[in-house]
Amino acid sequence: MATLLVVASLSLTGCGKKSESSAPGTSAKGQSSTEAGEVKPIDRKMLGAFGKLPAHFDSKTNPPTPAKLDLGHMLYFDARLSRSGTISCNSCHGLSTFGVDGKATSVGHAGDKGDRNAPTVFNAAGQFRQFWDGRMADVEAQAKGPVLNPIEHGLKDAAEVEQLLAAIPGYVVQFQRAFPGENSITFDNFAKAVGAFERKLVTPAPWDRFLGGDDGALSDEQKKGARLFVETGCISCHNGPLLGGQTYQKLGKVKPWPRPADEGRKKETNKAADLHHFKVPTLRNIAKTGPYFHDGQTTDLGEAVRLMARHQLGRELTASQTSLLVSFLGSLTGEPPQQWTAKPTLPPNPVTPPPAAATRVDAGSPAADKAGAAKLGDAGGVVPTVPPAPAGPGSAPEPKPPANDKVPATKPSSP
Ligand code: HEC
Ligand code: HEC
Repeated sequence: MATLLVVASLSLTGCGKKSESSAPGTSAKGQSSTEAGEVKPIDRKMLGAFGKLPAHFDSKTNPPTPAKLDLGHMLYFDARLSRSGTISCNSCHGLSTFGVDGKATSVGHAGDKGDRNAPTVFNAAGQFRQFWDGRMADVEAQAKGPVLNPIEHGLKDAAEVEQLLAAIPGYVVQFQRAFPGENSITFDNFAKAVGAFERKLVTPAPWDRFLGGDDGALSDEQKKGARLFVETGCISCHNGPLLGGQTYQKLGKVKPWPRPADEGRKKETNKAADLHHFKVPTLRNIAKTGPYFHDGQTTDLGEAVRLMARHQLGRELTASQTSLLVSFLGSLTGEPPQQWTAKPTLPPNPVTPPPAAATRVDAGSPAADKAGAAKLGDAGGVVPTVPPAPAGPGSAPEPKPPANDKVPATKPSSP
């Protein structure tokens, strides 16, 4: 880390010419084109602080198996694991929308707003810690959080999660396969399955092809932007294969951040020194994961880049510098793995004793309500292959079903 900082400060002093732009607000218009003209494409010698994305982020303590991955895939999409039966991981981290919900801050199972932006789950497993303030060690530990978070999935405790799962026969079988032995349905195993699944959510991008030696993978603009990323000093914090996810840093390091409401790590550690420290987020897929910052304060990537330069580095960027940096960031948009982003078939609800010929599982039984039963079709409209009577909205005599379908329609997983 020390070497990186040295590299960065060298490069800062190394381009003294640009310090003229450090007087805020004076960014001369004439300067933009000259500046743009001056920027050269990145030299391969400058690539040392970056790194190619690995194929996956497998863990030694939670090795992947096909059964575990399939299970994690289902759990990720299953809205029955929420108080209202409408929220799954995919509601806030839509895998067809680059792992985010596109909202400034997320909305939970009861429509309540949280106070932080949902970061992407793509490549998240490769970070040194999880959450904006790094309060969780890894994706396995993290996966337990949202399910019991009162604003997110809103379940009461681990036992409730286990009961919900044990009531769905398909999960009993699937947990046995993934975790052979006694007592396979546990909250720990739930977290392991989801974590193992998340470790596969890796998005190789043009930038990786460039790092691998393919000069044609990036446009000229992107190569210039990559040089600016190094020379401006972004690299001092956003480095490694993820361009982030490796350290905590103070937000507003050089100049106080304009929106200081969230105390960041201090909330966790209670140490004054941690005030406004946040995990440096990954910049992988950043062009697709706005709104930006922990509170989602802007949807404009150029604005986010300017704010970073000003508050983290004490520099004012010209319009052309900003646009080159934004072009470079576009080369970090990768390809989500189709195998895992598609909606899986979820195990159907247990068929409860049919009170009448046409049966719905949500016919008022408290157990069914609790389980969010008869909500097979939500969390992304998953239709089971085994055709259980209660699944289709059309199969019910009651006029209730549309209510179930409204929620997913507004969710990010739909487009
Ligand atoms: C209601 C919306 C919501 C739901 C549902 C939700 N999350 Fe999140 N998720 C968030 C928010 C908001 C954060 C950031 C919170 C923070 O940092 O304090 C987050 C953070 C994360 C992170 C950390 C990423 C990083 O870069 O640090 C991971 C991983 C994650 N969620 C996975 C999941 C999984 C797995 C599920 C399902 C079990 C899930 N989330 C359900 C909103 C949600
Ligand atoms: C001193 C460390 C530091 C430097 C230097 C730095 N950043 Fe950041 N960056 C951070 C931190 C910390 C955050 C998280 C901010 C938050 O909590 O909202 C962040 C967030 C971001 C975000 C928003 C990410 C998201 O998911 O919302 C972008 C984009 C970004 N930085 C780009 C840059 C660029 C471009 C540069 C160079 C001009 C740069 N950063 C320089 C530490 C740094």
